[in-house]
Amino acid sequence: MIIAPSLLAADFGKFAKETERIAKSGADWLHLDIMDGHFVPNISFGPQVVKALRPVTKMFFDVHLMCSKPEILLEPFAKAGASQMTVHVELGEQAVTQLLWKIKSLGIKAGLAVNPPTGIALAQRHLEQIDTLLIMTVNPGFGGQPFIFETLPKIQQAAVWRRDRKLRYHIEVDGGINNTTAAECARVGADAFVSGTALLANRNLGAAVRKMRKAVEEAGLKATSDKSATLQLI
Ligand code: DX5
Ligand code: ZN
Repeated sequence: MIIAPSLLAADFGKFAKETERIAKSGADWLHLDIMDGHFVPNISFGPQVVKALRPVTKMFFDVHLMCSKPEILLEPFAKAGASQMTVHVELGEQAVTQLLWKIKSLGIKAGLAVNPPTGIALAQRHLEQIDTLLIMTVNPGFGGQPFIFETLPKIQQAAVWRRDRKLRYHIEVDGGINNTTAAECARVGADAFVSGTALLANRNLGAAVRKMRKAVEEAGLKATSDKSATLQLI
């Protein structure tokens, strides 16, 4: 189980300190939300910021590109120290195939994200190319939004494909993730959990990360011991 605090919920004036705090919390990945003001109606930060944070920690940098033209950003983010870059399936099949190929050729892990209104079927043809399938559980653009429960069957579908096709991609969820919604997602097959608002609000981030990890591990175990649960909702 991967716990990935999102820097979007941090104090923007203290990114280095917040990154250090996240690194010391025992979390697995640092989730970095890149917004271009076009693909989503908000702007966050770019490769320069990620480059400035790279010396702070060795932790896995999970870069989520909510951008209309990610092709111009892949090399800059690779150079800045991204460990994984995720692009959106909404960009279209041809663009996505090329983007994923380019990410892999840069020696970085590749992720594919699916927005709540987008059918999960669009991701199907890319599954063999990816390390992570990111199921958005809110409409991207802002932190602090409520979890959209209608996305749960997509997580299940992603888990069924992974099992049937013997693939190993992570199923990552992003948006409105707290201990309760994280457990719901784990129960249907998610194994990577992005959390901004719910995690970073805690003064004791280490304890909050441990709690979330326990919640998803228990829910995940319950799901494996009761395989029929996976089939119920489909
Ligand atoms: C939303 C971003 C998320 C965001 C999640 O557009 O992709 O990664 O940081 O924030 P919370 O956990 O506050 O919903
Ligand atoms: Zn994100």
